[in-house]
Amino acid sequence: MNDFIIEGHGLKRYYQRGNETVKALDGVDVSIRKGEIVSILGPSGSGKTTLINLLSGLDAPTEGTLVIDGKSAAGLSEDELVEVRRGVLGFVFQNFSLLPTLTVTENIELPLLFLGLQADPERTRRVIDAVGLTDRANHLPRELSGGQMQRVAIARALIIEPKILVADEPTGNLDRATGESIIALFKKLAKEDGLAILLTTHNTVFGSQADRAITLEDGRIVALNGPPNKLPLH
Ligand SMILES: Nc1ncnc2c1ncn2[C@@H]1O[C@H](COP(=O)(O)OP(=O)(O)OP(=O)(O)O)[C@@H](O)[C@H]1O
Ligand SMILES: [Mg+2]
Repeated sequence: MNDFIIEGHGLKRYYQRGNETVKALDGVDVSIRKGEIVSILGPSGSGKTTLINLLSGLDAPTEGTLVIDGKSAAGLSEDELVEVRRGVLGFVFQNFSLLPTLTVTENIELPLLFLGLQADPERTRRVIDAVGLTDRANHLPRELSGGQMQRVAIARALIIEPKILVADEPTGNLDRATGESIIALFKKLAKEDGLAILLTTHNTVFGSQADRAITLEDGRIVALNGPPNKLPLH
């Protein structure tokens, strides 16, 4: 037994475009432990989204192995993958995908509905408090700022009590100060709840605040950095 939540080894994702093979990801090892914040950096097209989609089991690798919370995710059907992800992985979608006619609270409770679970008002309130939206709980998305919408998207991922939160460019559309407040929120969640966080970012300042930053270029890892006392990648 180890404390890895996600272990990916030799991950490749190739796309066929006519005669051309696009090597979006070309042999990457990434493992993430409980309570650890890992950022994926790299230029546009380097494979960041591809990598986190694979690590989240949202997309299947062309080659490589993936273990999510101790369970092998290789060769599983979509339904089986949903089971593996359930209660482990909370995904924060890039465009927030909030439903405009639902309040903040209702948007946050939506994943429970999909899972056929009953919302627990106390739990919802804790999650809303944790992301700093206490005074916005009954507002509609259009009444929120970009940073607040991002917090709703994060809260919606947290409501299922995941072990790892995965976010594609969570600070992408936000100004510097708002982006920093999202990073501060991630640090709080990692420290207080032992939540692991995997995020992609173009912003090296945000990226460098993670416990580990992994830089991709052309589908390969070109740099690993982080405090030297941290455990190595795998
Ligand atoms: N469905 C697809 N079909 C073909 N090629 C794809 C597909 N999805 C991604 N790619 C290619 O794979 C490479 C990696 O894409 P990816 O979206 O992972 O990059 P990224 O690092 O997330 O970029 P960005 O910073 O712009 O979001 C790119 O060259 C992209 O064109
Ligand atoms: Mg991307």
